Amino acid sequence: MHIHRYEKLWLIIGTLILVVFLSVLAVQTFFLEMGPPSHAETMDPESVRDSEMFADAELTEIGDNEYEIAMIAEMFTFQPGDLEIPAGATVHFTLASPDVTHGFKISDTNVNVMVVPGHISKISHTFNEPGEYLILCNEYCGLGHEYMANTITVY
Ligand code: CUA
Repeated sequence: MHIHRYEKLWLIIGTLILVVFLSVLAVQTFFLEMGPPSHAETMDPESVRDSEMFADAELTEIGDNEYEIAMIAEMFTFQPGDLEIPAGATVHFTLASPDVTHGFKISDTNVNVMVVPGHISKISHTFNEPGEYLILCNEYCGLGHEYMANTITVY
């Protein structure tokens, strides 16, 4: 069978591009851990407020400048309120909603997750730059949606 020279050339180029793209995806997924989230955790929205994990949750230091906090996103606030952390702190957020879908967006970072009732959302971030960071709800959740904001102060 005869394949034209140019056709052969472009087949090779196309295959190489595919290999490059798949390699980039593989590096992102397996080495940079940027793959899609897995291990989905679920929770009955009715039980969020009374659960061991979320009721009276507060910022807890779990390591060297490493913290964890369980937060409730609800109409129209994030509990337990504003946070203060030292610069360089890594914070592991665990989020749940007892009512409707909310957003959890931290300004000037790439933290941006949906908080869907029935599911637990988790995200971590290291706050290197001191300043005030706004936590915003960026999913329309009702009449008070625009007031749904908290502050993280990094000192
Ligand atoms: Cu919560 Cu918008």
